[in-house]
Amino acid sequence: MTTVAVYSIKGGVGKSTVSVNLAVLAAKAGQRTILLDLDPLGSSSYLLSVQAKKSHDEKALVKGGKELTKQIQATKYASLDVLPSSLAYKYLSIKFDEKKNSKHRLEKRLDDLSQYYDLAIIDASPTMSLVNENVLYAADVLLVPVVPTPFAVIAYDTLAEELKRMQILKHRVYVAVSMLDKRKKLHIETAEELLKRPESLKTIIPFASEIEKMGERREPVVEYKPRGKGAQAFKSLYRELTVLLRAIRDSDVAGDTAQTIIKE
Ligand SMILES: Nc1ncnc2c1ncn2[C@@H]1O[C@H](COP(=O)(O)OP(=O)(O)OP(=O)(O)O)[C@@H](O)[C@H]1O
Ligand SMILES: [Mg+2]
Repeated sequence: MTTVAVYSIKGGVGKSTVSVNLAVLAAKAGQRTILLDLDPLGSSSYLLSVQAKKSHDEKALVKGGKELTKQIQATKYASLDVLPSSLAYKYLSIKFDEKKNSKHRLEKRLDDLSQYYDLAIIDASPTMSLVNENVLYAADVLLVPVVPTPFAVIAYDTLAEELKRMQILKHRVYVAVSMLDKRKKLHIETAEELLKRPESLKTIIPFASEIEKMGERREPVVEYKPRGKGAQAFKSLYRELTVLLRAIRDSDVAGDTAQTIIKE
């Protein structure tokens, strides 16, 4: 199983939107996929019309086992399951902190799930927290949506510094330009600069009202407007990610170092 975390320390950059569209595209391509919604606000659970059960709590994710399996829910997509979030997840960091090896608890839970799924997508909250430290250590690939504005780039640079300190492998961190508004000169200029960076993916997700409507429709745009520019962008992002994930898996099998892929 490969784990992709969609994370940024800046809020409202499109993390949940990207997570849900990628998860549905992966499932439709036949990948056994699980989306872990780790943001207490539960946007991606909402977008997939999945509601946490009354018994949902944060302890299951800390301990694992049957309690966790019971909290995972099917969606209307054959190969897509969701671990929904609820406000209870606001206590996750505290619960992790009470345990040994507190930064690597999520890795353990993903190991438990790896026999059932090919791909795990994590929709993370926009915070620096113990939960998200767990996310960073557990993810094979970190996908950071960045809105092309100077403040958002500063936030990404701050995150990149932190990742360096944590020794997260650089070639596994990718930037996706998100919510590009072509009418704004500043967006275009900032996006051009961002795209020069080696970690930036080629796909640009445009700002589009058809994407914004996901909140009303509670469905991914790839489902209700599959030929629109929004869906095309998410399909392109999925294709780019698939190629990268394959390269990473091959290099892991071959025992190559992380840097090999960067040079390629
Ligand atoms: N490409 C886009 N075009 C237009 N609107 C978008 C786009 N991507 C996201 N949105 C809208 O922007 C808002 C924030 O998106 P989303 O919830 O995906 O961001 P987020 O990074 O997950 O936010 P948070 O940090 O609060 O979790 C939502 O209303 C969403 O519908
Ligand atoms: Mg979100």
